[in-house]
Amino acid sequence: MSDRQKSNDRTRGRVDQSGPARGEASQDARGERLLKKKVKSARGRKISSTLWLERQLNDPYVAAAKKAGYRSRAAFKLIELDDRFGFLSSGARVVDLGAAPGGWSQIALKRTSGKNASMDGTPHILAVDIQVMEPITGVLALQLDFLDPQTPDEVQRHLGGKVDVVLSDMAAPATGHKPTDHVRIIALCEAALNFAIHVLRPGGHFVAKVLQGGTERDLLLKMKNSFHSVRHAKPKASRAESAEVYVVALGFKGQGA
Ligand SMILES: C[S@@+](CC[C@H](N)C(=O)[O-])C[C@H]1O[C@@H](n2cnc3c(N)ncnc32)[C@H](O)[C@@H]1O
Repeated sequence: MSDRQKSNDRTRGRVDQSGPARGEASQDARGERLLKKKVKSARGRKISSTLWLERQLNDPYVAAAKKAGYRSRAAFKLIELDDRFGFLSSGARVVDLGAAPGGWSQIALKRTSGKNASMDGTPHILAVDIQVMEPITGVLALQLDFLDPQTPDEVQRHLGGKVDVVLSDMAAPATGHKPTDHVRIIALCEAALNFAIHVLRPGGHFVAKVLQGGTERDLLLKMKNSFHSVRHAKPKASRAESAEVYVVALGFKGQGA
């Protein structure tokens, strides 16, 4: 383990004490099991919406996110991934793609805030989403479609140099048609990876959402050629019934590798 990762571990230990720990979520989970909330079906509300509402009300991560002031339950996925792989170090500059409503940006900001952050006046965390995101102090949010061919250049113009980490939690709304959803998520991951290869400093890291059994062979090969280590991980906060999984690529070899 590098000195940077060790010092990151120390930082994480400190941050976790103030943030919502996984224990907090499972403690809530125990409570929620006892008090499972049922939602009465309402006229005009679709069964799928009723089930969604019921799931939200009974989801321990939703409750824990609300309690901790996180904008999404997805925040816990990034906490788990970073606890395991240690890519968010103090002072790191991060691009967060598919950032709205902002849970990952909150965690990235919290875990990278340190004496080196924002020293040169450039944004510390840059968030991009096709939807509007409510402002977060310390995060520059851009509302852009990342599949628009002009977007990567536009985002790069806002960066004052290379960055340490590129995160992508981008996902198009699910259609329920597996091949379509697969193609869409792979297109987003590919756009994120191509961008990461342009903006990461050597040694930087890339984390992206893909679908289980589905990181395309070519995409995976490109990651393996560009990074020292490529792993798949499914955080506990990711719903078991969801096919999403994260690919964590550590140690960028540099452009032209
Ligand atoms: C699962 S949500 C991200 C949640 C976020 N990580 C958080 O912690 O709050 C996926 C996001 O990807 C965004 N997205 C989907 N397609 C996109 C695109 N083409 N360009 C930019 N963002 C996109 C969606 O608008 C949505 O906000």
